[in-house]
Amino acid sequence: MDKLIINGRSKISGSINVHGSKNAALPIIVSSLLSDKILKLSNVPNVVDVLNLIKLLKNYGVKILHNKDIVHINSKKIKNLSADYDVVRKMRASILILGPLLSRFGRARISLPGGCAIGTRPIDIHLSGLSKLGVNFEIQNGFVVGSVKSQLIGNKIKLPFPSVGATENILMASVLAKGETKISNAAREPEIEDLSNCLIKMGAKIEGHGSKNIYVQGVTNLKTARHQIISDRIVAGTYIIAALILNSSLEIKNFNTTYLKSLINVLKKMGANLKVSKFSIKVLKGPKLKSTSILTNPYPGFPTDLQAQLMTLMCLSDGKSKIKETIFENRFMHVPELNRLGAKIIVEKDTAIILGNQTFKGAQVMASDLRASISLVLAAMNANGQTTLNRVYHLDRGYENIEKTLGSLGVKIKRKKN
Ligand code: UD1
Repeated sequence: MDKLIINGRSKISGSINVHGSKNAALPIIVSSLLSDKILKLSNVPNVVDVLNLIKLLKNYGVKILHNKDIVHINSKKIKNLSADYDVVRKMRASILILGPLLSRFGRARISLPGGCAIGTRPIDIHLSGLSKLGVNFEIQNGFVVGSVKSQLIGNKIKLPFPSVGATENILMASVLAKGETKISNAAREPEIEDLSNCLIKMGAKIEGHGSKNIYVQGVTNLKTARHQIISDRIVAGTYIIAALILNSSLEIKNFNTTYLKSLINVLKKMGANLKVSKFSIKVLKGPKLKSTSILTNPYPGFPTDLQAQLMTLMCLSDGKSKIKETIFENRFMHVPELNRLGAKIIVEKDTAIILGNQTFKGAQVMASDLRASISLVLAAMNANGQTTLNRVYHLDRGYENIEKTLGSLGVKIKRKKN
C-alpha cells in the first residue's frame, strides 16, 4: 500500500484549478444505464472511485471510451444486472445502479453494502422509495433482488431524511416511470442539480431540482447528450483550508463559489481573509483565526465532507471550537490520529471539542476514510518534522494526484509506492 511522506512548514503559493466533482460524476455515469444512446461527459475527475465505477459498467457490457477528463458511454447492450459484494463494499455509490436498471430492464440484483468505516449506512430510504414506484424487493443470500411486474409507475414519495443517494436513485428510476413522480424532502446538494441537468439533456422531464420538491414526468425515450460535470466543491474547500493552515496566499479557481457559501461564512467568521468571486477564491495572509462552533447539515448547511478538514484548522485557531456531526454516526475517526500529531480534541457522542493554539508534530498516522485522510495531510503540512501517512488509497478515491497538486504549490510531499 502506498504511503505519503510529508515534511511540514513549507509556505505555499500560486493557484489551483479544481477538478470535476466525484459525487456528481458517479451518479451521472450511472445514469447512462437508463439509455441506449451515447452519453458524452467532460470534466470527469480521474479518481479511483470513478475508475472503479467505469470498471463495474464495463463488466455489464457497457462500452466506454475514457481519455483524460472525457468519458463517452454507450449502454446500448447490457449483459449483466448484478453487482457483487466486493464492488459494493469498496464503493457504496454502486447501489445507484438499482434505479436505472429497474427502470429500464425491470430487474436488478445488488449485494447488501453492510457497514463501513463511517457508520452502518443503511439503504432503507432507497428501497422504500423504489418500492413506491412499483419495485418488489427480496433479500436472497446477502443480495437485494429487485423486480418490476411490467413498468414503474410514478408516485408521491416523501423521504424521511434528505438522503443524497436515495434522492438520486429514485430520481433516476422515475425518469422512465409512467406518469408523474414527486419526491418531497429531497436532498438539495449541487450534485443532484447537476445530475438533473444531465438527465434533462438526455430527454428527461424534471422540475424543482435543487429544491425540496422534485417533479418528474416519465418519458419513454432518451437521446444522445453531452454534459460537463461541475467542479468539486469539497476539493475546492479543502485547498482553501490548506492555504489558511499555512497562512499563505493561494488562488483556487474553476468552481462555482455559491456552492461553498456555508464554508465561506464560517471561515469569514473565524477571521479569514478571502476574496470571493463567482468562480474563484483568493485566500490572503491574515491574522490568527478565531475559534467557532458548527454543526454539519444537509445542503445548504455545512457539509459533513469538510468537517475533518475544518477540524484541523480549528486546532490552530485561537480558543476552543466545537463541531457537532449530524449526518453520520462515527465520523470522527480522524480524531485519534490528529491527536497523535499533537491536537487536543475530545469527542463526546456526536460532538468534538477542539482546543486551539496547538502545535502539530510529525508522526506515523493511518488514514481511515477519504475525508479523514485529507485532514491528516493538512495537519502534516503544518507540523514540525516529518509525517508518514499510511493507506493513501483512501485519498486517491477522491483527490486527483494529490502529491503533484500540493507539490506544485511548494508542499514537500512524496509518494512511496509499495
Ligand atoms: C453522499 C456523498 C458523501 C456525503 C453524503 C452526505 C456521494 C457518492 N457520496 O453519500 O460524500 O458525505 O452524501 O452529504 O455522493 N441513510 C439512511 N438510509 C438510507 C440512506 C441514507 O439511514 O437509505 C443515512 C446514512 O446512513 C447517513 C445519512 O443518511 O447517516 C446520509 O446519507 P446520504 O445522504 O444517503 O449519503 P450518501 O448518498 O451515502
